[in-house]
Amino acid sequence: MVKKIKWGVIGSGGIARRRTIPEGIMAAENAELTAVFDVNQEANSEVANEFSATACSSEAELLRRDDVEAVYIATPANLHHGQVLAAAGAGKHILCEKPLGMSVEEAEEMIAACEKAGVKLGVGFMMRFHAYHAEALRMIKDGAIGRCVLGRAQLSCWYPPIEGAWRQDPAAGGGGSLIDMGGHCIDLLEMFFGPARKVCCLAGNLVQDYKSEDSATVILEFDNGVQGVVDTFFCIPDASSKNRLELYGSGGSILAEGTIGQGPAGTMVAYIEQAGKDYDAQQVRQGESGQVTIDPEPINTYQAEIEELVRAIIEDRQPSNSAADALQSTKVISACYESARTGKFVAI
Ligand SMILES: NC(=O)c1ccc[n+]([C@@H]2O[C@H](COP(=O)([O-])OP(=O)(O)OC[C@H]3O[C@@H](n4cnc5c(N)ncnc54)[C@H](O)[C@@H]3O)[C@@H](O)[C@H]2O)c1
Repeated sequence: MVKKIKWGVIGSGGIARRRTIPEGIMAAENAELTAVFDVNQEANSEVANEFSATACSSEAELLRRDDVEAVYIATPANLHHGQVLAAAGAGKHILCEKPLGMSVEEAEEMIAACEKAGVKLGVGFMMRFHAYHAEALRMIKDGAIGRCVLGRAQLSCWYPPIEGAWRQDPAAGGGGSLIDMGGHCIDLLEMFFGPARKVCCLAGNLVQDYKSEDSATVILEFDNGVQGVVDTFFCIPDASSKNRLELYGSGGSILAEGTIGQGPAGTMVAYIEQAGKDYDAQQVRQGESGQVTIDPEPINTYQAEIEELVRAIIEDRQPSNSAADALQSTKVISACYESARTGKFVAI
């Protein structure tokens, strides 16, 4: 029988309710939801009823429970640090939503607290688990597109001013489109190419009238010399942004639309010089143009991140969406904001 880890959720009323509880914790074969807590009392009891869990009356009550072995933290970004420290102090394993901390110092303290407590810490960069991204990574590692030279990742949407929205105030969200959505893009490019060593960033408000940036474009240089571009805007209509992922190398390219996002869908093709010769891809070939359609079995990324943290707990290892990678991502984002302020390239 598969061992199940018992989960509690802090901040159950947002993405937790929409995606991570139904598609992740409830669907995972090795997880079980036992308790939830949200400061919004209505959401707290509704989610508990909907998923047959106990509604706790405080974070401390949830963390005291013996039937909570792991917690999923899905609250506004400025709360992650304190909640991770509290959960680690209570001896719970943690899946914390991104970003890992509002600053590099916060992220380092969160990691240190989990190490001290001997608990696992994973971070909600669930797009790493997307089947197309996993396949692209495999192809890059296989050398299918030769020496990688450029990656572009785009994630934009229309996000108008909303009274009290935490993402629209840097004091609560850490920033706007860059930290919120661009963080996923940066994390993905680092998954493909390794750590970034230098960034230059433009960030500002072109359309929306709130304190957080609605526009950001980043140029990155990775340790291995690969160049990258991330563009992320809160002021482009949803249907107009195809959330493109483009990975180029000396021997071809991998081009995707719609894989960067919450769903398991999207499309991906590759142009491979050696296609039709000796490249053994597990994909559908199309014509003689060298175009290959990448078409793996879809993976639900929320289920995958929950199952991965449970396996990491059981196997006593770090999860693949590790806190170390998330710390690096926090360093890159912090360097981006510094670059946007100073107008200079910033080394990481
Ligand atoms: N990976 C993804 O697909 C994805 C998508 C959306 C959001 N997120 C991340 O999830 C987190 C939450 O984002 P969201 O969109 O769900 O926000 P949200 O505002 O929709 O939901 C946050 C929830 O936290 C609750 N909350 C606030 N303070 C709390 C506290 N002190 N204790 C307990 N609950 C509290 C709120 O009442 C609300 O229900 C953020 O870190 C965000 O970056 C990730």
